[in-house]
Amino acid sequence: MKISVIGAGYVGCVTGICLAEIGHDVFLIDVDSGKLEALRAGKCPVFEPGLNDLLAKNHRKIRTTPDVSEAIPETELTLICVGTPQNGDGSIDLRYVIHAAQSIGRVLRSKNNYHTIVVKSTVLPGTTENVLLPVLESESGKRAHQDFGIATNPEFLKEGCAVQDFFHTDRIIIGAQNQKTTTLLEELYKPLNAPVFNTNIKTAEMIKYVSNAFLATKISFANEVGNMCKAAGIDTYEVFKGVGMDTRINPHFFRSGIGFGGSCFPKDVQALIHFAELQGVDPKILKAIIATNNDQPLKMINLLKNHLDIKGKKIGVLGLAFKPGTDDIRESRAVPIIRQLLAEGAEVVAYDPLAMPSFSSLFPGIRYAQSAQEAINADAVFIVTEWDEFEDLDYQGRLVIDGRRIKKAQKEAAQYEGICW
Ligand SMILES: NC(=O)c1ccc[n+]([C@@H]2O[C@H](COP(=O)([O-])OP(=O)(O)OC[C@H]3O[C@@H](n4cnc5c(N)ncnc54)[C@H](O)[C@@H]3O)[C@@H](O)[C@H]2O)c1
Repeated sequence: MKISVIGAGYVGCVTGICLAEIGHDVFLIDVDSGKLEALRAGKCPVFEPGLNDLLAKNHRKIRTTPDVSEAIPETELTLICVGTPQNGDGSIDLRYVIHAAQSIGRVLRSKNNYHTIVVKSTVLPGTTENVLLPVLESESGKRAHQDFGIATNPEFLKEGCAVQDFFHTDRIIIGAQNQKTTTLLEELYKPLNAPVFNTNIKTAEMIKYVSNAFLATKISFANEVGNMCKAAGIDTYEVFKGVGMDTRINPHFFRSGIGFGGSCFPKDVQALIHFAELQGVDPKILKAIIATNNDQPLKMINLLKNHLDIKGKKIGVLGLAFKPGTDDIRESRAVPIIRQLLAEGAEVVAYDPLAMPSFSSLFPGIRYAQSAQEAINADAVFIVTEWDEFEDLDYQGRLVIDGRRIKKAQKEAAQYEGICW
């Protein structure tokens, strides 16, 4: 199948390159010329294990362009993968998806063949039908479901193992209004042999938000239980080992720690809160998830104060990415932690195997170490992201405040405090 993908970020690159791997011809479109140049040079603009190799292997099947009007006439299906960031009031900023829909619509006006538009960006229920569909109709002068197809196909990849997730997904959710569109999407993903759930458009949109909100709930719940367990002298990891053996519960997403970050959970939970309120529902549980998540990282500062006076001290911060395996720092827990350390007069030396370039544009004034071992040569060490290499450091003689349960630090450090243990 010939497909175009608008937005060559995490979702667009992973989806486009992996679709090429399963046999499709792909046009990757982005307004960011730097990303397109990187792709042309054979380097993926986002870091995902295995993605550069797949790009090299499939380079003949992947083309790039900044211009929608070059790609759409040559393809039968367009996946919208542009960002949907958060507005100040928790709602989502639709400007990029609307812009993408406008540019697709303008090209469709003069395209004679049937074309299908698929929204992969995360958008609140109703957005595809009430916002994007009218834009496509007015720009193209054509009728949805009749002259062009429209669907939602939410993305569930996990950064850091997104390629793996693409090929071994738990499910593919297709939100569509007619059989023709459903069949086309089933055909697109057929080589994956994955379970497919067909539903209507706004239900598919809701499934994405509810999935992320539930995972975020598990994390905040595990953190609240972890706080109780620390105070009561109980090992929260042992507790969740026992709890997770119940098949109704399952053992995943119960790693008590300093909370979740990233480009999805915080913004998606906020957006669902906003959506609930628009429906006249007070989302008490969702609000508590965010409140717990906001409190959690700053507990590291309070724990440190039990050991030393922060002012003037050198604090090594291990981990800046919002989780291991990615260079993504969006909503990373390192941000509020470092901001607070600086506000309290600390000198910060940070290290991350991938995320230092992006973090240094946010915090140009702190020091960045060449290695993790160099960063822990400090008055105290904060462990913020659970990179594997932090299990290999020499923590002897160190004061460590651990947000992620690094066993070697727990065993070796002269003074050690876990956030929830
Ligand atoms: N990152 C994830 O883990 C993840 C997982 C599931 C869903 N999502 C959702 O997928 C969407 C994309 O997320 P992302 O992390 O890939 O974002 P991203 O910021 O990494 O990438 C978005 C890309 O779209 C490009 N873009 C914006 N407007 C454009 C336009 N009009 N034409 C062409 N390109 C345009 C930007 O330049 C950027 O490269 C969001 O809605 C997000 O919530 C993300």
